Amino acid sequence: MGERIAEEKLNEIREAADIVDIISDYVQLNKQGRNYFGLCPFHGENTPSFSVAPDKQIYHCFGCGAGGNVFSFLMDKEGLTFIEAAVKLAARTNIELPAETLTENKAKPASRDSQQMIEAHELLRKFYHHLLVNTKDGQHALEYLIKRGFTIESIEKFQIGYSLNSWDFVYKFLIKRGYSPELVERSGLIIKRDDGTYFDRFRERIMFPLLDSHGNTIAFSGRALGDDEPKYLNSPETAIFNKSKILYNFHLARPSLRKLQQAVLFEGFADVIAADKSGVINSIATMGTSLTEEHIALLRRNVQSVTICFDSDNAGIEAAYRAAKMLAEAGLNLRVALMPDGYDPDDYIKKYGEEKFKNDVIGASATLMTFKFLYYRRGKNLQNEGDRLLYIEEVLREISRLEKAVEKDHYLRQLASEFSLSLDALKQQQDEMSAAEGKKHQKGQSALKKKAPAARPTGQLRPAYHTAERCLIAHMLKNSELAYRVQDKLQGNTFNIDEHQAIITYLIGFYEEGHAPDLSGFLNYLNDNKLKRIVAEIEMMSINEEISDQELIDYIKQVLNYQKMLKIKEKEAEERDAERQKDFARAAAIATEIIQMRKSL
Ligand code: GTP
Ligand code: MN
Repeated sequence: MGERIAEEKLNEIREAADIVDIISDYVQLNKQGRNYFGLCPFHGENTPSFSVAPDKQIYHCFGCGAGGNVFSFLMDKEGLTFIEAAVKLAARTNIELPAETLTENKAKPASRDSQQMIEAHELLRKFYHHLLVNTKDGQHALEYLIKRGFTIESIEKFQIGYSLNSWDFVYKFLIKRGYSPELVERSGLIIKRDDGTYFDRFRERIMFPLLDSHGNTIAFSGRALGDDEPKYLNSPETAIFNKSKILYNFHLARPSLRKLQQAVLFEGFADVIAADKSGVINSIATMGTSLTEEHIALLRRNVQSVTICFDSDNAGIEAAYRAAKMLAEAGLNLRVALMPDGYDPDDYIKKYGEEKFKNDVIGASATLMTFKFLYYRRGKNLQNEGDRLLYIEEVLREISRLEKAVEKDHYLRQLASEFSLSLDALKQQQDEMSAAEGKKHQKGQSALKKKAPAARPTGQLRPAYHTAERCLIAHMLKNSELAYRVQDKLQGNTFNIDEHQAIITYLIGFYEEGHAPDLSGFLNYLNDNKLKRIVAEIEMMSINEEISDQELIDYIKQVLNYQKMLKIKEKEAEERDAERQKDFARAAAIATEIIQMRKSL
């Protein structure tokens, strides 16, 4: 092995690298419940049995048993050493490693150009922020923000800044620090005139830094202070900034997105910042564009549900309808938060307060179907027969697309009672629509079915002690105190499966060296591929429940009983032996022993 990498660096890399992101470069993953499934890249297969758990940051193939963390994936897939895998991940996540590590391991660092562009953006972010909060030049901008209800905490958290009313401030600032005009132009911060001179793109604006998913500043959006046009000016697309991939606040929100498995999607930055201030910290927004497939893929990798909270004007409702459709088709659970006509979330919070926003808007968000009812109702006068019939037909069509019979029934009843219609007639019409829809969708449906993950491991029921050992390991991986307790209770005995025993021996060693429970860290600590695979498999199958003392005792009993059973079997063979040799006294003595042993089971 080459140069070592400091433990803190490794942790940093591990935290920054997302296993779903990395594996997606090699495998097309589909979300099913909490996990992702795809075709295993380690063995040929037609039905997906390869799974990735984003919450645990591990993968496991139910078919061939491959498994591990993001490091072992790259090691196995690309034939890299551990250090090479770490170097590759560091480059991918823009984490700087000591120069020696890089040269020793000959990995390509992120393109030098992109690196410099990010540095320039980082420098400017700090400077813009300084101008806003600490200088006289920025005072009017700060006052504007405060008047709009931004707090100092939000300004800090989102690193909001101010760009001076100057044509060449950024130009001079960056050139003086050694950046070439060409690079700064390519990064979108300055614009070239016909005569070959340059001027600053952002002047006299409130500056919102835009971060990539690793927290690097890669672009800005600048809001005019008054009614200047355009209201928001964005960085152009560059080597480091691609609008269709970036979600505002994604980097800061990611931990809460994962934890809550839910995102709240807004239209504007101001909304995200106001919502965040109200405690809705899983807030994100697009860069003023509509949702792209890339945005949706990013969301699918991190959450199960999305709540859409768009402006409640015509444009906002239309946009919400389109976004809702796309997100629902991608398999995300959907809700739509509704506000009184004409409000945007930022205005609403200012008028009604944070609590009301959290409870009455986000907390009381509508199901997708309820939103659709409201959507079709807009612009119609339901007193008018034509409008009313059109509305009923539109809603019935939506109902016929629902999968669950219970849901269909629920909404049909709601419709029947609202318009005093016969439930039977509605059902009949809806059935006809379903049949028509069914024909149209059959093809797509069966294609989808084929993609479903393979059933869990087939055949081969495992003996109880085997399962018991795995359950114990699963809990020992999560809790060091419990690991020691299990070791005590084994009273010097070992697990029956050699690999299981090896895993717990390493695990106790890991804890004794002062590590806290940390699955991915432990996988790196294990040097043996076979053991890594088993740990990943155990984790993939384990449930996150606390273990009671009684369960713990039962599992340990099962482990120890198997060993006693083996001893009993040995004794029984001895007994038969004695009988064959007509040594009945010895046979009787052994029989008593066996009875004692059975009693202790
Ligand atoms: P405030 O007026 O400052 O409260 O902003 P807002 O977030 O309410 O803006 P609005 O609802 O008008 O727009 C929503 C989002 O669309 C903004 O956050 C921007 O991302 C984008 N957007 C709005 N106006 C412009 C514009 O003039 N140009 C561009 N490129 N994007 C815009
Ligand atoms: Mn607004």
